[in-house]
Amino acid sequence: MNEALQDYVAEISLREPDLLQELRSKTSELPLALMQISPEQGQFISLLVKAIGARRALEVGVFTGYSLLSTALALPEGGSVVALDISEEWSAMARDFAERAGGGGGGGRPPAPARPRPPPPRARGGGGAAGSVRDF
Ligand SMILES: C[S@@+](CC[C@H](N)C(=O)[O-])C[C@H]1O[C@@H](n2cnc3c(N)ncnc32)[C@H](O)[C@@H]1O
Repeated sequence: MNEALQDYVAEISLREPDLLQELRSKTSELPLALMQISPEQGQFISLLVKAIGARRALEVGVFTGYSLLSTALALPEGGSVVALDISEEWSAMARDFAERAGGGGGGGRPPAPARPRPPPPRARGGGGAAGSVRDF
């Protein structure tokens, strides 16, 4: 997709929640910001989650959490996401935003705390981090 087409798609269809905008902006300051998915991809993930009626999701490779939040915010009430990443630094940022989303950013759903938990031993890979984001 060239830049003109991308601008057009964003202008006519992108509806990015404030929290995702904030996360994207904060991530853009990182040297590896290009790892983050585009807002259009995030919106497409959200569409897919809703279209298939997903209630549970597994995210492998979280970075700062854009696709994680795109998924989590699209889940129905009581849905859950388990997220894994080998980087504690990036996971910490993702966890912070996930907690904020789980604490009341879920599109008008009742506030509920996120409950991070350690990864299962086989998912650790010699370091890393994981979180469970529930009650979206
Ligand atoms: C391209 S980024 C993911 C982008 C992210 N989904 C987003 O929406 O911004 C890839 C991520 O995979 C993680 N990663 C690489 N190898 C991994 C592994 N073996 N297990 C879990 N995460 C891994 C990296 O630390 C990095 O955060």
